[in-house]
Amino acid sequence: MAKDYPIRTYPDPVLRKETSEITDFNEELGSFVSEMQRLMFENDGVGLAGPQIGFSLKIAIVYYEERLYTLINPVIIESSGEEYGEEGCLSFPGIYGRVKRPEKIRIKAQDINGTESIFEAEGFLARAFCHETDHLNGILLIDHFSPMKKNMVKRKMLKKSRETQ
Ligand code: CO
Repeated sequence: MAKDYPIRTYPDPVLRKETSEITDFNEELGSFVSEMQRLMFENDGVGLAGPQIGFSLKIAIVYYEERLYTLINPVIIESSGEEYGEEGCLSFPGIYGRVKRPEKIRIKAQDINGTESIFEAEGFLARAFCHETDHLNGILLIDHFSPMKKNMVKRKMLKKSRETQ
């Protein structure tokens, strides 16, 4: 799969679309994940979710402390505590804001072979897992902002998308 998928930015409707579970753990999925990795590194992201490259599938990747996590059909099964931290998103270039996330989570996900594991994460990694899982549920960075900041960012992004059309 040597295609080039542009990163979808807000307000691209695919970012809000419902995603489907992945049930075929075939070779194609493996090359799709490699392609996602390439795109994430090329764009200096710490995570990337299927919808961000136009695929409404429950798949996301996260890179943290030299470890690459592939999350297929992920579900957060436990969360505790809360913590504020700065977040950005490849679908909102140049936009950052404070987001409240759980301090610790347990997340269940499959890998490219369909094997299920449970990851325990805290701090930044928990934040990244929550952010990517949000993408698979159509929830975006701005949904965690105050109504005022959300509106400001929305207007900015809409203006930008009109200018580039
Ligand atoms: Co994002």
